[in-house]
Amino acid sequence: MIIAIDGPSGTGKSTVAKGVAKKLGFLFFDTGAMYRSLAWKIMQEGAVSDEKAIGKILDVFQFDIQTSAEGEKRYFVENVDVTSKIRTQEISLLASQVSTLAIVRKALVKIQRRFGHRANAVFEGRDMGTVVFPDAELKIFLTASPDVRAERRYRELLLKFPDLAASLSKEQILSEIEERDHNDQTRAISPLKQAKDAILIDTSNLTAEEVIDRIVKAKAKIRRRKQYDPMKLSYAIVYHVVRVFFKLFYRLRIYGLPHFKKGAAIIAANHTSFFDPPVISISCPEEVHFLARDSLFRIPLLGRLIRILNSHPVARDASDASTFRQLVNLLQQGEKVILFPEGKRSETEELLPLEKGLSFLVYKSHCSIQPVYVSGARDAWKRGRKLPRLFGKISCIFGSSIEWEEFEDLEKRDAMEKITQRTELAIRSLKRWFEEGAQGEPP
Ligand code: DC
Repeated sequence: MIIAIDGPSGTGKSTVAKGVAKKLGFLFFDTGAMYRSLAWKIMQEGAVSDEKAIGKILDVFQFDIQTSAEGEKRYFVENVDVTSKIRTQEISLLASQVSTLAIVRKALVKIQRRFGHRANAVFEGRDMGTVVFPDAELKIFLTASPDVRAERRYRELLLKFPDLAASLSKEQILSEIEERDHNDQTRAISPLKQAKDAILIDTSNLTAEEVIDRIVKAKAKIRRRKQYDPMKLSYAIVYHVVRVFFKLFYRLRIYGLPHFKKGAAIIAANHTSFFDPPVISISCPEEVHFLARDSLFRIPLLGRLIRILNSHPVARDASDASTFRQLVNLLQQGEKVILFPEGKRSETEELLPLEKGLSFLVYKSHCSIQPVYVSGARDAWKRGRKLPRLFGKISCIFGSSIEWEEFEDLEKRDAMEKITQRTELAIRSLKRWFEEGAQGEPP
């Protein structure tokens, strides 16, 4: 789960984000420290207003975060500990300036998303809820009056740089805050703004503890609320009836649901049986889409049922152009689509080599891939049998999601090859995990 906390400086973002992470046992990422660390490096290299040189720095920029024995975060640029070096006034302003550059944002957003794939985390910054993690489960936007923010900044300086604090008036601090706000809010790319679905908290008259408490409560509420969008009524009815059917007759077990993420994805699964599409659909906690041969839609009851379950008719297979367009459209609307990248049903439990369709689709729509392994469906309804056996044991295992960012810097051919390899490997490792006893969470 990701909690995105955004807002201007002096609203208590870092203190609050740290506190929330500590209370919930989440990781904490201060993305401003990343912009600051880069600004420090740019200053070292004397590349302040040279975009070309900044590009070169970014190509080899090595940023690392380590946690000290006392639990404090330390920031490193090429093994130099920059933790306190990046908190000066000079670096504050330079970070704000360089963060307006497209090349800088692209590179840092990529690093942030990589950190975000690991686990439960609180990210604080300016564009966490709007750009970096638009699907974050909880988004918070903090504000405070300029006076309060200047006062907080002054107290922070007094603690960290007493000499500097003594040489500055409150008006100077306020005008520096206003200059940074102006930079951050008016830049063309990813300006600081509240995401539509973010909770706004004015921290002017609240203590850090009170703000932390509100956020922890908001998080508890989401956990209690359904995590996913409500299903259409007709979908929900068929979904639950089919689910009861599989639970009763095939003792359906579902693993790895915490890996299931919001947003567009191809649910890529092994394929051995006609049962695979309904089993996967009703194992997913939200509405998903799948393709079905158009002849199935002509069978009276079945045709109606699969239509309600968001299936889309295909003439031959998923490789024809109109099907491809249809799939890209669905993905671009943020939907999830079940796909069987082997292209046909395997006659054994072994995965067949994956076809290119999956990698084309991922390349075109930049969506993520949710690998899935279904076990037992082949025994329940083998190829060549007219009807299924009426009892059995089916399991559906969701693996951790494969993100588009892994491939975005590769040439088309390499990217497509890598997408196929990664997916194949992921499905195989789910199979192995299951066959070795299904201990803990699936990979
Ligand atoms: O939060 P901070 O003051 O440490 O951030 C330093 C600068 O970095 C800030 O002026 C704007 C920029 N920044 C950004 O553009 N996007 C982020 N996600 C975080 C910080």
